Amino acid sequence: MKKILLLGSNGQLGSDIVKIFTKSENINLLPIYRKDLDIEKWKTVYRKLKKYTNIDYIINCASYNKTDECEDNIKKTFDINSLAVQEIARFCSSRDITFIHISSDYVFDGNKNSPYNEEDTTKGLNVYGLSKLAGEDFAKHYAKKHFIFRVSSLFGIAGSTEKNQNFVEKILKYAKEKKQLKIVADQFMSPTHTLDVARAIKVIIINEIKNYGIYHVCNSGFCSWYEFAKTILEFSSNDANLSKTTYDKYVTKAKRPKYSVLNNAKISKYYKMPMWKKALQEYLNIRNSLEVK
Ligand SMILES: NC(=O)c1ccc[n+]([C@@H]2O[C@H](COP(=O)([O-])OP(=O)(O)OC[C@H]3O[C@@H](n4cnc5c(N)ncnc54)[C@H](OP(=O)(O)O)[C@@H]3O)[C@@H](O)[C@H]2O)c1
Repeated sequence: MKKILLLGSNGQLGSDIVKIFTKSENINLLPIYRKDLDIEKWKTVYRKLKKYTNIDYIINCASYNKTDECEDNIKKTFDINSLAVQEIARFCSSRDITFIHISSDYVFDGNKNSPYNEEDTTKGLNVYGLSKLAGEDFAKHYAKKHFIFRVSSLFGIAGSTEKNQNFVEKILKYAKEKKQLKIVADQFMSPTHTLDVARAIKVIIINEIKNYGIYHVCNSGFCSWYEFAKTILEFSSNDANLSKTTYDKYVTKAKRPKYSVLNNAKISKYYKMPMWKKALQEYLNIRNSLEVK
């Protein structure tokens, strides 16, 4: 029986990990929520983790990822995304636990124009990206057995709530409200369904993979945010007044990489990540089935 501690269990990715491990034989998944362990209080993390015993894996999906807000909340961002990761990693090493930490495509500056490989030079452009990069460094340095999964542009069912609306939901909401949509057409990424990231994690754990290190875990293929929005509308049979804008005209508080497509060849040896359009279709199907109920 493998015992897994999951942090950030009610987030988009965390809740799909809970879903994917439910009914798994030989797995005992312990979902942890903010009320159990507030990782912003990072100095208490190591001590509080001690009450969980005989753990084989810790998966950390908890993060502060409101990218623009992070610019004004530097301490909070680094406390959650970096210093707490250090403490979790230290705890993992002390108990011979394998640490699976979730990171981001925002550790890159976007100046490349072909998919980023795991070993490419990192350079965060904003506070959030820099904090995720520091988190990676802590995980690598302190956890002897670590997997760092860099994911990108996530959409998951838990993000369909008011609290945490993902891009798919924002587009569907705007379409319903008949808003005019101006979407950036020259910024590229790989949209990723959290259910596929959860499946990749499960394969790593079930097969007891020991090839530790960094992995790019995103759906295959890439697109601009405009193409993503257009496909969401098409697949959901929605009509909206959609037009293109450019990266330079869409000003946000935090600067974002213009190109953050990740090469997922390394993880594909273990789990073949589906194309993003297929993943989007699956998300919409799940969403529709929940709406019908
Ligand atoms: N979303 C994206 O597009 C994206 C892109 C690249 C990388 N990532 C990374 O992927 C991972 C999962 O993202 P996601 O979209 O699933 O995030 P999410 O839906 O925003 O979930 C974040 C989780 O972190 C928890 N959390 C936040 N602050 C906490 C604290 N102080 N103590 C304990 N728990 C705390 C939240 O709990 P509450 O519900 O209590 O707030 C929630 O469960 C994160 O590491 C993120 O950086 C995300």
